[in-house]
This record gives sequence, C-alpha cells and structure tokens, in this order.
Amino acid sequence: MKKIAPSILSADFTRLGEEIIAVEKAGADYIHIDIMDGHFVPNISVGPMIVEAVKRVTDLPLDVHLMITNPDDFIDEFAEAGAAILTFHAETAFHINRTIQHIRDRGMRPGISLNPATTLNVLDYVLADIDLVLLMTVNPGFGGQKFIQGSIPKIKGLRDIVEKGGYDIEIEVDGGIGPDTVNLVSSAGANVFVAGSAIFSSPDYSKTISLMRERIQD
Ligand code: DX5
Ligand code: ZN
Repeated sequence: MKKIAPSILSADFTRLGEEIIAVEKAGADYIHIDIMDGHFVPNISVGPMIVEAVKRVTDLPLDVHLMITNPDDFIDEFAEAGAAILTFHAETAFHINRTIQHIRDRGMRPGISLNPATTLNVLDYVLADIDLVLLMTVNPGFGGQKFIQGSIPKIKGLRDIVEKGGYDIEIEVDGGIGPDTVNLVSSAGANVFVAGSAIFSSPDYSKTISLMRERIQD
C-alpha cells in the first residue's frame, strides 16, 4: 500500500498540534518526525519530548527518523515516547543487527536509512529483520532541498532486491518529494513518501496530499 508521511520539520511549531490534526484530516498515513543532533547532520531539531507530545494529538503511526550518531542510546526513550517505526542510519551504527533487535524488542518496527551515497549492500544481511528502508533522496539535515535524480536507480535496485527475495519491507523516500517528484519515485518502486515543505508550505494540505495520491496511482 502506498503511504504519505508528512514531515513535521516544515510545520509551524507554534501550532504543532493543529498542524498534525490538519495533515491527519488531509489524509496522511504516517507522521514523520526528524530527530537531528548537530553531529550526524549539520542541524538540530527535536527529541523524544516532541514525539511524546505528537502522540497525544494523533492515532496515526509515528514514523521517527533518527539522524543521530548514537541511536542505541535513545531507543528506549523513543519507545516510551510512542514511536511506531524507528529508523536509524546505517552510517551511524557499529552493530546494525543489535540495533535492529533492540528496536524490535521494544515493540517498534525497525527501519534503516541510507544517505544518498551509501550503497545498498549494507542491507544484504539484515533484509529479513527489518520492516522498512528509508532511502534519502537529499543529503539529510534540512527541509526544502532539491531531489537528487541519481536516487532513482537506487530505488529501482532496492525494489528489485525486495521482490526477488520476497521480503516484506516498505521502501520509503525522503527529501525533495512532492507533487512534482512523487510519480517518479513511485514508479521506481517506493511506497512510502515523506514530504515536508511540499505539504506544510502549501496553502491547502488536503489538495496537496490528494494531488500526490493521484500521482502515485499504479
Ligand atoms: C531531511 C529530513 C526530511 C525533511 C524533508 O533530512 O529527513 O524528512 O523534512 O523535507 P522536504 O520534504 O522539504 O525535502
Ligand atoms: Zn526524514
């Protein structure tokens, strides 16, 4: 199933609760929350406290994207805050298998994210253990960047691996996704579409989400 995941990084934080309710009403499937530490990425965003606050205003699954150098140290906190999916970057984990198990043990769905230049082969021995792969389609750290076209063959490559291996894995794309790019990534094989600025900077969230949904019909 194809899913749209608004990223609250581009929401108006003075009215975060209303913003979440608005995208839920507009047809969002997940709420994507970006956690940045100023080390792994050159920006700082929010932590478990905000995840816990978002949890109180919506029943949509919280799709938490860790962009932090020490994901293992925060798995328990994000579980307690109410994350449904917890995704960490392969580039940040020494013991990828252990991190996945820890996330699963805490009742969350484990995901692995790859930067645009990281190759798919880091996934070779963990595909049976994860629920989601998040392919970055910009360099992580900021909203509103331009989609990297070179991501397309990578999405196709991963879709191929997932189909051939019969894995039950969602392929999520993040960065520069909106009505103009969603068809491209959907045709390449992605099924979860993160969109920050395309949704929250648009005048009508429902219209933008509907337009994206129209453009990902098979
Ligand atoms: C970037 C974050 C994204 C960000 C995407 O590092 O992971 O989730 O919010 O923003 P847009 O959709 O504006 O490119
Ligand atoms: Zn993200």
